Amino acid sequence: MTEQQAILQMQGIHKRFPGVVALKNVGLRLFPGEVHALMGQNGAGKSTLIKVLTGVESIDSGDIILSGKPIRPHSVFEVQELGISTVYQEVNLCPNLSVAENIFIGRFPFRFGRIDWKTMQSKARTGLAALNIDIDVSLPLSSYPVAIQQMVAIARALSTEAQVLILDEPTSSLDEDEVERLFDVLRRLKAKGIAILFVTHFLDQTYAISDRITVLRNGEFEGEYLAKDLSRMQLINKMVGREVDESSFARQAGDHADKAQTGEPFLAANHLGRAGMLRPIDLSVYSGQVLGLGGLLGSGRTETAHLLFGIDHPDSGSTKINGIPVKLNSPRKAVRLGLAFCPEDRKTEGIIAELSIRENIILALQARRGIFHFIPVSKQRQIAEEYIRQLGIKTSDAEKPIGQLSGGNQQKVLLARWLATEPKMLILDEPTRGIDVAAKLEIMELVKTQCCKGLAIVFISSEMSEVLRVSDRIAVLRDREKIGELDGASSDEQSVFCMIAGSEA
Ligand SMILES: Nc1ncnc2c1ncn2[C@@H]1O[C@H](COP(=O)(O)OP(=O)(O)OP(=O)(O)O)[C@@H](O)[C@H]1O
Ligand SMILES: [Mg+2]
Repeated sequence: MTEQQAILQMQGIHKRFPGVVALKNVGLRLFPGEVHALMGQNGAGKSTLIKVLTGVESIDSGDIILSGKPIRPHSVFEVQELGISTVYQEVNLCPNLSVAENIFIGRFPFRFGRIDWKTMQSKARTGLAALNIDIDVSLPLSSYPVAIQQMVAIARALSTEAQVLILDEPTSSLDEDEVERLFDVLRRLKAKGIAILFVTHFLDQTYAISDRITVLRNGEFEGEYLAKDLSRMQLINKMVGREVDESSFARQAGDHADKAQTGEPFLAANHLGRAGMLRPIDLSVYSGQVLGLGGLLGSGRTETAHLLFGIDHPDSGSTKINGIPVKLNSPRKAVRLGLAFCPEDRKTEGIIAELSIRENIILALQARRGIFHFIPVSKQRQIAEEYIRQLGIKTSDAEKPIGQLSGGNQQKVLLARWLATEPKMLILDEPTRGIDVAAKLEIMELVKTQCCKGLAIVFISSEMSEVLRVSDRIAVLRDREKIGELDGASSDEQSVFCMIAGSEA
């Protein structure tokens, strides 16, 4: 790996958006046969660097050199032609088209002047098989969960003969198994001499796959390192720009207070289920406690959340809130009863890109009050600014369109939206997806503070360590069924996985 030629080099890149300098004199070098991790906090400029490289955004100044020749890409297609294939952070596929069509958009195979559907579908199946995914490729993309959609986006990027492959947070909604499959594919591509650029907030993944690391901080180039020469601690400090003790992320396990489960639960679900979706389960959620839902992808965590919040209707069982039987048959009803739900897919279920940050924050609160109780704009601004401060949302102005925030900061706005309704029970589905290490800690702190104030929380995360860290109790799910419950304070990953695997801890 010594002194070889970079296949792609970016130098002195500047990019300014109205009111923000997103990139200041940034450089990047990609080498053939290497995985290069691009690291930095939310809003550091990672996605912007990828967008200017791939023609989604124009650059203000700087040079991009591919195989020794300067390029100045103006469109995504132009860049694909040059052999650069990209998976963007916000999956930009068409939900209404079939999986196969999504993989081959813009390059449909033709036969006798017509689209050759058969070839397209069989090629799509082969592409997904490389990722160990076996699904009906003729169904619309939207009929599959986010993780599968993410895999489809990856299969699409892999289906072109690229010499450079770019992946912006491709693993944010994948579970460990799927990440491993993706990494297997990346290792194969690496062995073929392809240069890979990879963005993630999971440090374990960075170190599992990367040869080289570039760190951005506040839109500036902080440095380029060989992964083997940079410790985790050094990496965090370089991203954050100050000394952060990563052990503080782990230490919180001890703070599970001895909260006795006295009295009634806030919400009690008895034999709640829906055929084909979730086998009947019993769940109790107590005020002032975090109930974690543990389990692998597809185990029924999100399905449970959807039933609790009235998005899907149970066909068995009953629910009580404060001991009184309720029918949670719509999200609107759930909100009226004091429930809030922060969904995992911020793009389709969450943010409204055209609205301002303030409007996005105020949305659920206004809906709860009803249109006849309009919240005055000055009051809206006050609420929005309070949450921007509390959650450390990186923006200069609450009036900006939320679409201009970095991915992680959009996630924080979603969280703010639901906290602003001052709910009695909050369901968080992957709340730290795409959130950087330091902000993750802040969000978990915030969850716990709200909990101490008496909020009941249902917490879903594919990171088991995170579930263990915040949860007072953990309901463990497997194959769309609850298989048991564990005490948060006295359990570790081993005990959860043992339960999932079906053996005694
Ligand atoms: N279209 C846009 N208009 C205005 N500002 C933007 C736009 N896109 C990005 N920005 C700003 O540029 C900065 C860098 O954002 P970018 O999305 O590159 O961050 P990131 O490192 O990818 O963060 P994350 O980890 O949250 O995805 C942020 O301050 C963001 O608000
Ligand atoms: Mg990003």
